[in-house]
Amino acid sequence: RDEPLVLGIETSCDETGVGIVRGHTLLADAVASSVEEHARFGGVVPEVASRAHLEAMVPTIQRACDTAGVSLTDVDAIAVTHGPGLAGALLVGVASAKALALSLGKPIYGVNHLAAHVAVDQLEHGPLPEPCLALLVSGGHSSLLKVTDITGYDGGVDPLGATIDDAAGEAFDKVARLLGLPFPGGPHIDRVAREGDQVAIDFPRGLTGRRDLERHRFDFSFSGLKTAVARWVEARERSGEPVPVADVAASFQEAVCDVLVRKALDAASSEGIEDLMIGGGVAANSRLRALAEERAAQLGIRVRVPRPGLCTDNGAMVAALGATMVERGRTPSPLDLPADSSLPV
Ligand code: KG4
Ligand code: ZN
Repeated sequence: RDEPLVLGIETSCDETGVGIVRGHTLLADAVASSVEEHARFGGVVPEVASRAHLEAMVPTIQRACDTAGVSLTDVDAIAVTHGPGLAGALLVGVASAKALALSLGKPIYGVNHLAAHVAVDQLEHGPLPEPCLALLVSGGHSSLLKVTDITGYDGGVDPLGATIDDAAGEAFDKVARLLGLPFPGGPHIDRVAREGDQVAIDFPRGLTGRRDLERHRFDFSFSGLKTAVARWVEARERSGEPVPVADVAASFQEAVCDVLVRKALDAASSEGIEDLMIGGGVAANSRLRALAEERAAQLGIRVRVPRPGLCTDNGAMVAALGATMVERGRTPSPLDLPADSSLPV
């Protein structure tokens, strides 16, 4: 009972998330998504997301408290994503968190969205091993992080590499659109690919050539792959033959997962790290999980992936990182904590 009760707020993109944890125990994870309002635009519309956060915030806080069986006055600390993300969307979460902290007289902790995607794993698998290597793959990010202190203290979250163009999730969403699948496309590609042949088409693996590896050993590139898929599909359509959607989906997915796993394991090995954590929305991908497990086992590296519901954006991940900050005695943020759309890790 002496573990801190922390309420976390997440509004960096299109999910209004409010999570409540006690230490490493998840008590509630309420999420309201505006994804359906964006679907007809084929991507997240910032203005629409901000307005949806405003409307969903109070009911989502209420729902989280009801599920957890706590009242707001029981909360020991408020944690909030203050970046990176959509500026207007972040502002709604940060302003709400400040209002709660001020009215309850409790400290506020601004947390980094990427670090929170990693910290969430402790709600499922217990304390995060430090050091560990985190592969963070979402609609907005693809990063390899060396984590020695998840609170980010003293350079504790060190970016080893990142995408130089599209994020992995973005590539999934764009290729899905090309194949006529709904937005967001990741889960649809995952599903359709199960009926396809992953070696049917040999799509390019970005930044894996000898010369690229010299400068971009732990970086990713997915825009060339996306273009290659588009060209392949166009050629098929021109020839009048039907597009084998399942084979394209499976071969594309294999190209993404192959590079992600290859580089993550290379980074872990070269840093002498024995634990690989995979987080972010794309970590929900079934092929990515299977491939990582298979290849890591050969190297004696352990893999931790949270269940899919915790991989996509949610408030519990923010609360989880907030709780760790409280436990480690990190200094709370000032009440004028700014939202920072390009907050570095
Ligand atoms: O972490 P997240 O919920 O939001 C961001 O911070 O971006 O990630 C959303 C991304 C989307 O691009 C979505 O298509 C992708 O994660 N995604 C998947 C799967 N589930 C979600 N990609 C591949 N396979 C999946 N099963
Ligand atoms: Zn995210």
